Amino acid sequence: MKTLLLPGSDPATPEIAAKIIRQGGLVAIPTETVYGLGANGLDEQAVARIFEAKGRPQDNPLILHVAEPTEMEKFCHSIPNASYTLAEKFWPGPLTMVLPARDIVPRRTTGGLSTVAVRCPDNDTTREIIRLSGVPIAAPSANLSGKPSTTTAQHVLHDHDGRIQAIVDGGPCRVGVESTIVDLTESRPRLLRPGGITPEQLIEVLGDLVIDKAVTAQIDKDAVVKAPGMKYRHYAPEEPVVIVSGSREQAAAYIHRHFVPGDRVLCFAEELPLYVGCNPLAYGSEADVNTLSAGLFAALRELDDPSIHQVYARCPVGGGVAYAVQNRLKKAAAFHIVNPEEES
Ligand code: TXA
Ligand code: MG
Repeated sequence: MKTLLLPGSDPATPEIAAKIIRQGGLVAIPTETVYGLGANGLDEQAVARIFEAKGRPQDNPLILHVAEPTEMEKFCHSIPNASYTLAEKFWPGPLTMVLPARDIVPRRTTGGLSTVAVRCPDNDTTREIIRLSGVPIAAPSANLSGKPSTTTAQHVLHDHDGRIQAIVDGGPCRVGVESTIVDLTESRPRLLRPGGITPEQLIEVLGDLVIDKAVTAQIDKDAVVKAPGMKYRHYAPEEPVVIVSGSREQAAAYIHRHFVPGDRVLCFAEELPLYVGCNPLAYGSEADVNTLSAGLFAALRELDDPSIHQVYARCPVGGGVAYAVQNRLKKAAAFHIVNPEEES
């Protein structure tokens, strides 16, 4: 199969992509968070192709992408008032809501669950593709399962060239980490995955937020979890990643003590001068956390090289979007964090 690379700016692109979706094919779509691997979310066979192309476990449900916030009513029921407020404030945008699913949504899309995740992405081309398809687009992040997410069309081409019908090139993704997921099916709202909409923003609307344990700790493979995707090792390059906490100077001293040829350092742009001779890679500026979220996955993909022995990574501290960056980096490191102060 020849994979078409469709420019997002070409006015013909939305209809070409929508036609492939209507015919049950796979199209990688740009969003403000990461690229998604899209198919008709109401067509079991089309959805099955997503799982096959990604090598994704069948129990890991997909997000349904809608063109308009009001469309959530077509696919969800028992929608609490808070969902309407969240949709009004944050859609289109990097927020996914988990709600009770209507019967029209195939269980293959929901990974067998009675709930469904919905989101209205902030990308005009992709919303036009959804509109022209006439169906919601189910789309996981377009990376191969277990690999870092795809934030450019070239990342998608690398993982899926010749295996999917088309990729819509909308340029690099602005947010760079996947959407915030909040579960609204229980008495208290629960954060299943942090992202571009911050816990602080959610609490301002909801007045309450439980942080699911899968956000803060490694979850056992056999555990029963709310977001099945959270238990799989994620976002990870091939070789071990260890996060080095502490101040700039403490971390640099620790890394220089342990560094051997073949290791790499993933750091902030401000820290590059501290790692001369250690082959450092900066993923953004510590002074602007949005550059860190936007650059993280491209950097993790660059470090996905079997010849690398060990990656020492620096992680931003604090809340807001930094919370999402911490979550992704900790997952890439399988929650392996060292504190230089504790080394005797
Ligand atoms: O930003 C994003 O959300 C991107 C773009 C393409 O929209 N999509 C994305 O999809 O990150 P994916 O499949 O890589 O991650 C979706 C996560 C998984 O961890 C999955 O387990 C969880 O959402 N999820 C989906 N449906 C769910 C449900 N009904 N209940 C709980 N978790 C759900
Ligand atoms: Mg994913």
